[in-house]
Amino acid sequence: MRNKAKLPIGVFDSGVGGLTVLKALRERMPCEDVLYLGDTARLPYGTKSPQTVARYGVQCGGELTRRGIKLLVVACNTASAVALDALREANPGVPVIGVVEPGARAACAATSNQAVAVIATESTIAGGAYQRAIHSIRPEARILGHACPLFVSLAEEGWTEGQIPEAVAARYLDPIFKPASGTEHPVIPDTLVLGCTHFPLLAQAIRRVVPDRTTIVDSAATTAETVYAELGRLGLARPENGCGGTTYLTTDDAARFARTGSRFLGTPIAERDVLLIDL
Ligand code: DGL
Repeated sequence: MRNKAKLPIGVFDSGVGGLTVLKALRERMPCEDVLYLGDTARLPYGTKSPQTVARYGVQCGGELTRRGIKLLVVACNTASAVALDALREANPGVPVIGVVEPGARAACAATSNQAVAVIATESTIAGGAYQRAIHSIRPEARILGHACPLFVSLAEEGWTEGQIPEAVAARYLDPIFKPASGTEHPVIPDTLVLGCTHFPLLAQAIRRVVPDRTTIVDSAATTAETVYAELGRLGLARPENGCGGTTYLTTDDAARFARTGSRFLGTPIAERDVLLIDL
């Protein structure tokens, strides 16, 4: 068990978006090593079928498990929404934690009026995983799911502040938060779940177009808390002294991964620290 505790935590995403989750993991568990895989060659997952995302997810999880990890974090919301069961089946010896359930828990803790909006990729919304996870905790909750695919491109481009992201945010969110009078859902959600790795980068623009009282939930911190608790429960946590490191793997263009990823992580990633792999 002690040797297993020394292994890194494995994290994968369709690309660099999962670095928002990595950042939260690093902040919560600075002594742990992390092995991060961004499947940039096949990004986006959010527009693909559940079968394809599950196949890609199992390949990513398998690659990390083969390299040796003690726990697998599925940082990608789309993969968490559609591939978690397949990942657990394919990696029986490794605990698998996704971001949907922690995000749903945080939303349920935040809402007072039991009305929750979830924004995510097309596949995540279509699969209904957030809706099911929230309903399993709060059966009475009213959930409005909305796909916001353009947010992914804006975050990748670095267009996260100013008129353009705010106009896009208003176009997506006004129907939920400022419905025209006479429309069907008069209960305005008091909680908004950012159900996609890329959306925390647009939090400022989103904040400007939703009512002030809206609680914006980002699952990264809750996921990190869940991972911390699970490692403790399994006796797999590293002693809390020393400093852990991150190893980066990508399936396409290490230079681009380093450049774009630095923005998502909030600290520079050197290209020489990114290893190009084939799945
Ligand atoms: N990582 C994906 C997610 O959180 C967003 C990007 C993609 O579509 O692959 O759903």
